Amino acid sequence: MTSSIQDFGKVAVLMGGWAAEREVSLKSGQAVLDALLSAGVDAHKVDMDRNIATVLQQGQFDRVFNIVHGRGGEDGELQGLLEVLQIPYTGCGIMASAISMDKLMTKRLWLGMNMPTPAHRILEADTDWDEVVDALGLPLIVKPALEGSSIGMSKVDARDALPAAFEMAAQFGEVFAEQWVTGDEFTVAILGDEVLPSIRLQANNDFYDFEAKYQSDETQYFCPSGLSEDSELEIQALASRAFKAVGGHGWGRVDVMRNASGEFMLIEVNTVPGMTDHSLVPMAARQHGLSFEQLVVSILETATMGRKV
Ligand SMILES: Nc1ncnc2c1ncn2[C@@H]1O[C@H](COP(=O)(O)OP(=O)(O)O)[C@@H](O)[C@H]1O
Ligand SMILES: [Mg+2]
Repeated sequence: MTSSIQDFGKVAVLMGGWAAEREVSLKSGQAVLDALLSAGVDAHKVDMDRNIATVLQQGQFDRVFNIVHGRGGEDGELQGLLEVLQIPYTGCGIMASAISMDKLMTKRLWLGMNMPTPAHRILEADTDWDEVVDALGLPLIVKPALEGSSIGMSKVDARDALPAAFEMAAQFGEVFAEQWVTGDEFTVAILGDEVLPSIRLQANNDFYDFEAKYQSDETQYFCPSGLSEDSELEIQALASRAFKAVGGHGWGRVDVMRNASGEFMLIEVNTVPGMTDHSLVPMAARQHGLSFEQLVVSILETATMGRKV
């Protein structure tokens, strides 16, 4: 699909919001806004707050570029509002957004379709911790179903540490434990009908601490990821199936790990991934021959509404 820049009409670049990822979203949003403006799009910054319905109606926007990360913007809430207002928007619809925001729902869906994802157990206050450790082994990872950016997650090395890890994660709602995957970590971006080259993420710390990884500048990114041609095709096909399974539309990013036996394991889907020029989707796009500006315009071209699946 090629649209002329004028066809986009008046575009709201929705950023900010009220989730923990607000600051990241403002950075992503500014980068998207600058790129759209330099492409000649009539783009406007809109910092999303609870008055968003009025702001969008009064502004008479023709399209929304949604770059609000996390709750409110990435979980179906905003998508439902945009459906009511009948404004075409980038990214997934209501259902795919809501499912992807919930890591546990996403895993259930993948498991129902026989897709590979690490074994897991739901954790509750009266859970039999021994059964969990027997089933998943150690170490394992404890995650809240709903948070992002590693919030509330911890690696558990000993059975006795499991209840405390559960307590910490439980502040954020439903919690599950997942089998620890020892191996390489990848992420695969989806753009329209295309799957972009995989990126391999490598923390420099010997101590494989994902929280430190995201806070430190030590993480290295490889794109091309170094996978063999066959493995690259395999991970791309898997990411594409995983994205379609949740009903994904437009663009997104699928996190994948490879276990010690060389099998790819699906971790999660991000439906509004970061978009600063240091972010992962732009990195994969660049490897695919798309500049940041071309990427942003391509994402805007996918804006639709209605049933997106
Ligand atoms: N099962 C797992 N085994 C080992 N490391 C994991 C596992 N799941 C997640 N991680 C690590 O934790 C990071 C964050 O997990 P993820 O589920 O992607 O949540 P989010 O990106 O929303 O914080 C991953 O990028 C990876 O480094
Ligand atoms: Mg992730």
